[in-house]
Amino acid sequence: MPANAVTSLTNHQIRLASRPVGLPTRANWSATTEPVTEPSEGGVLLKTLALSLDPAMRGWMNEGKSYIPPVGIGEVMRAGGVGKVIASKNPKFAVGDYVSAGFGVQEYLTVAEADMKRSGLGKIDLRAGSLTQWLNVLGMPGMTGYFGLMDVGQPKAGETVVVSGAAGAVGQTVGQIAKIKGCRVVGIAGGAAKCEWVVKELGFDACIDYKSGPSAVKEGLKAHCLKGVDIFFDNVGGEILDSVLARINRSARIIICGAISQYNNTTAVQGPKNYLSLLVNRARMEGIVVFDYADRYHLAVAEMAGYLKDGRMKSKEDIVVGIDTFPETLLKLFNGENFGKLVLQVAVD
Ligand SMILES: NC(=O)c1ccc[n+]([C@@H]2O[C@H](COP(=O)([O-])OP(=O)(O)OC[C@H]3O[C@@H](n4cnc5c(N)ncnc54)[C@H](OP(=O)(O)O)[C@@H]3O)[C@@H](O)[C@H]2O)c1
Repeated sequence: MPANAVTSLTNHQIRLASRPVGLPTRANWSATTEPVTEPSEGGVLLKTLALSLDPAMRGWMNEGKSYIPPVGIGEVMRAGGVGKVIASKNPKFAVGDYVSAGFGVQEYLTVAEADMKRSGLGKIDLRAGSLTQWLNVLGMPGMTGYFGLMDVGQPKAGETVVVSGAAGAVGQTVGQIAKIKGCRVVGIAGGAAKCEWVVKELGFDACIDYKSGPSAVKEGLKAHCLKGVDIFFDNVGGEILDSVLARINRSARIIICGAISQYNNTTAVQGPKNYLSLLVNRARMEGIVVFDYADRYHLAVAEMAGYLKDGRMKSKEDIVVGIDTFPETLLKLFNGENFGKLVLQVAVD
C-alpha cells in the first residue's frame, strides 16, 4: 500500500475510560479516532478483521496485581485478534498475509519490528482452520483447553471428566479433546439449547443445565457421574465448583481455568466451601494461565487442526459485527447470550 494511501486511513478505537464496578457499562469506554501511521523500517501495518472477546477482559479492566498488568485508563482496550498485513517493511511478512496478534479493540495496528514478539504477531494458515477458528479452537481458548486438560488434568481413558461453561470457547474444546482421549464427558451449561448442542453435536455423554433448578447440578452429577469425578475443568467457580467438589474421586484433578460467576462481583469472591474434599480424596486443585504454554502452541494447533480436518472436532463461533458494538457485545459473555466463541467482526476480508 503506498504511503499516501496509508496516511489517508482513519483508525477507530475503543479505549478504557474508567474502571467499572460490577458489570461494565458504555460509560466505562470511549470511542476515539486516530490517523493510521506508516510502519517504520522492519515493521508492518495490520488491518483488524476479527477480535476475540474474552471473559478475561473484565479482569484486565480492574486495578491491581494479576498475571498481566491492567489496561490503563485511556489506553486502547487489549484484545487478541486476526487480521491481514496491508503494508510491510519486513521481509518475513508480505502484504496479504493473515496474522494473529494482540490487536487491541481498533481497526488498524502498526507494529514496529522490536514489538513483534511482545504483540504475539504470527502468521496463521487458513488451510488449518478458518479465521474465526483461529480465535477459537486454534487460538487462545483452544490452547487453554488443550494444555489445561492435557498438562494439568492428565486424562486417562475411562475417567470421568466434568467441564463447566461447556458450550463456551474453552469448554467445547475441553470436552471434545477429553472424548477423543477416551474419557466419559459431562458438561455443565446454561439452558436446554446449549446442553442439547453439546451432547448431540459435540458428542458429550451428558450435559447438566444448571439453570433448570436450584439442585440441578447436584442431581445431575449424581445421575451422570455414577463412578464419581476424576477431572473437573472449571470455567465458572462459585456454587458449581462446590457441587463438583462434593463428588470427586481419590486423586482427582481440578483445573481452575476461570471463575466467570465471580468476575463482576461487588463483594468478595466466593471461595470453595467444600475444599476439604481435596484432603479426603488426596486430590489437587491447580490454576492454569495459557500464556505459560506459548512455546508449545504450535504442537497443539497441529493436533487440533488434524481433528478439525478428520471431523473429530467441531467448533462454533458466535460472530457479532461492528467495532462500535463492543461495549454491549462484551456483556454477552456475562449473561450467557453468547453461543460458542464470541467474536467481534471488525472488517470483512
Ligand atoms: N486461565 C486461562 O489462561 C484462561 C484462558 C481463557 C479463558 N479462561 C477462562 O475460561 C472461562 C471460559 O472462557 P471462554 O472464553 O470459553 O468463555 P465462554 O465460555 O465462551 O463464555 C462465557 C460463558 O460463561 C457462562 N457464564 C457466564 N456467567 C456465568 C455464571 N454466573 N455462572 C455460570 N456460567 C456463567 C455463560 O455460559 P452459560 O450460558 O452456559 O451460562 C457464558 O456463555 C472463563 O472463566 C475465562 O476467564 C481462562
